Amino acid sequence: MLIEDEVYYCGFNSIKSAGANAYFIARPGGNWLVSTPKFVPHLVNKFEKLGGVKHIFISHRDDLGETEKYQERFRSNTIIHRKDLDCYPQAGTVLEGQEQIDFEPAFKIIPTPGHTEGHCMLLYHDKFLFTADSLRFNRETLQVELWNPYWTWFSYQAQVDSVARLHRYRFQWILTSHGQRVKLAEAEMSENLKRAIEKARAEPNPEPCDEQRLRNLEYYIGELRKLNQHVYANKIDQKAEFIRQTAVELNSLQATISTDIEFANKWHFPDAQDWNVVCKFWQSCS
Ligand SMILES: [Fe+2]
Repeated sequence: MLIEDEVYYCGFNSIKSAGANAYFIARPGGNWLVSTPKFVPHLVNKFEKLGGVKHIFISHRDDLGETEKYQERFRSNTIIHRKDLDCYPQAGTVLEGQEQIDFEPAFKIIPTPGHTEGHCMLLYHDKFLFTADSLRFNRETLQVELWNPYWTWFSYQAQVDSVARLHRYRFQWILTSHGQRVKLAEAEMSENLKRAIEKARAEPNPEPCDEQRLRNLEYYIGELRKLNQHVYANKIDQKAEFIRQTAVELNSLQATISTDIEFANKWHFPDAQDWNVVCKFWQSCS
């Protein structure tokens, strides 16, 4: 489906990339795929008619999808950042560092660590920003916003810093891997981005340590294992283990404090009020 100019939404989202959107850019010098959809004849034949796929941009390790099949079919060059390279070691172009990488005259690849360490965005013609899993448009508030800390695997703070660096770029479209894409006038986009960064910097709990976060991490570990990314899955499991241990320690501490409060209240100890304050403090931490 044509979005605008020569940028298409592919559809046929693949479960192998957690249902991520994939996009096709038709270029006279060779076409691009931004993430890969399902490898289905309908799309393969269409890409064939449009001249094949010269480059496949892998924004980060979760959106590998059907890269291998498309790469083999079209002998495409595959592009990924070194920090996520272990998920696709045979990649043809390995991006290094945190500075923008220019690719052909119209493409800028922007390393944006946060969601994963090797997460990158792709800017095409200073108009279309493929944001992968760090920026989206909220359908309810009608605002651009960062992905929340519960779905940020590497570092929320790094993600905020990465998105803050986007201020130096001009663009009108945000084309997401998940969720709503949007086109805004450049000035409006810039204002939206500014508000999104302010909101993200004020996030009260950038590294949540609770049940929901643990569930998300465990889901992600399961997905990584399905993709045979076991080394990285183990790394994420260390993060999950930290939350499990913290929960055990907090529960044990709360149990001790609750018993002490009961005791202090029963015998009218003068410090009962203080214990109440301490208890509330720990409850607020959990
Ligand atoms: Fe992702």
